[in-house]
Amino acid sequence: MNEPARQCWRVAPGGSVAGNVRVPGDKSISHRALMLGALADGDTHVTGFLEGEDCLATARALAALGVRIERPAAEELLVHGAGAGGLKAAAAPLDLGNSGTAMRLMTGVLAPQSFDSTLVGDASLMRRPMERVVVPLQMMGARIHTHEGRPPVHIRGTPQLRAIHYSLPVASAQVKSAVLLAALAASGTTRLTEPAPSRDHTERMLAAFGVRLAREGRTLALEGGQRLTGSAVRVPADFSSAAFFLVAGCLAAERSLLLTNVGVNPTRTGLLELLRRMGADIRVHPAPGAAEAEPVADLEVRRSALRGISVPESLVPLTIDEFPAFFIAAACATGETLVRGALELRVKESDRLAAMAEGLGALGVEHQLLPDGLWIRGAASLGGGTVDSRGDHRIAMAFAVAALRAREPLEILDTANVATSFPGFIESARAAGLDITHD
Ligand code: S3P
Repeated sequence: MNEPARQCWRVAPGGSVAGNVRVPGDKSISHRALMLGALADGDTHVTGFLEGEDCLATARALAALGVRIERPAAEELLVHGAGAGGLKAAAAPLDLGNSGTAMRLMTGVLAPQSFDSTLVGDASLMRRPMERVVVPLQMMGARIHTHEGRPPVHIRGTPQLRAIHYSLPVASAQVKSAVLLAALAASGTTRLTEPAPSRDHTERMLAAFGVRLAREGRTLALEGGQRLTGSAVRVPADFSSAAFFLVAGCLAAERSLLLTNVGVNPTRTGLLELLRRMGADIRVHPAPGAAEAEPVADLEVRRSALRGISVPESLVPLTIDEFPAFFIAAACATGETLVRGALELRVKESDRLAAMAEGLGALGVEHQLLPDGLWIRGAASLGGGTVDSRGDHRIAMAFAVAALRAREPLEILDTANVATSFPGFIESARAAGLDITHD
């Protein structure tokens, strides 16, 4: 439960962005490559792996559970699968750092084991709700205890889980994935019904590992007892990291800014649709490779005159991690932008509605914080000053981009957690044209 050093950034106002940016590998897919690789028979070769703190926490947890993981080269891993029933009890609680995905998905992995486990994390993760995965897993027969719904998560391993039919109360890929991972070891066919589509990386990767998974409308069905076969996983660049540069490009790419090899799974790209509705000039150049589990494209963006919009609630789950960047686009657009139905943003790495409202207020942007969203009136330029990222990587990166339209320098506090999802952000941002330093 080590807390990272705080750190702070200074970003000069104005400027422009241009050139080619290759952002690091997808965080969601990297976590899943490790976990499915660990549960599989045989080896899994991962390329494009995100060497960010969140995924490294998952790798360390799996190593503590007896999984052998090699790193033949940068961003490349060889996971020697332990096979079904091959994990071993860890000697100490597993520390998942800042990562909600790691904690929730690992709860699904560990619930059906023949040993007990305890999961902990940093101060942010220890505040986040775990009931959402505990409830369906308990329905399957799992024995899990939390502290009033929050970590530490104590798991009494229960190898005899049974299938359930569960309707998810909120669209959540983490809940869906935790149940699917537990369902692999349960008796019978587990059925999951989603209220709206959420990211489907788990389903795609399970199929690539040889698991049969049926989908009928909003319901998924997975028969327990299936074994996974190790596979090759090519992790594309993370759309959620590319998002900051997409918005930067809309604000300040006089010539074009090109983001290469980006994952464009349609369950992730709500931001593309929202920016286009605002008038953004973004071109998608799909990469060949129809057989790949995940679609990939180069994204080309140019400075655009953005107009405020009202965000349809159906696009909220498909944009869920991109709202910090989106709110900066809205703050620089003409007219008003309204987001509702985004209550989930309150339980991310920080309360992202409150953190963004506070930061926008510091920059002099007219806004209103709503219980489940945010209303913003865009401005031709933003002020400067100090913004507290609250230790949330995406809040920090969003405000770094905002500096492109600021009149005064920006100081962004508590930025060390950017290393959870985007190691090398400062270098990439500088290469694109941002004038950013840290202490
Ligand atoms: C993730 C799912 C999303 C997202 C998170 C990563 C995943 O959370 O916000 O950053 O990898 O499954 P929810 O499923 O809770 O919406």
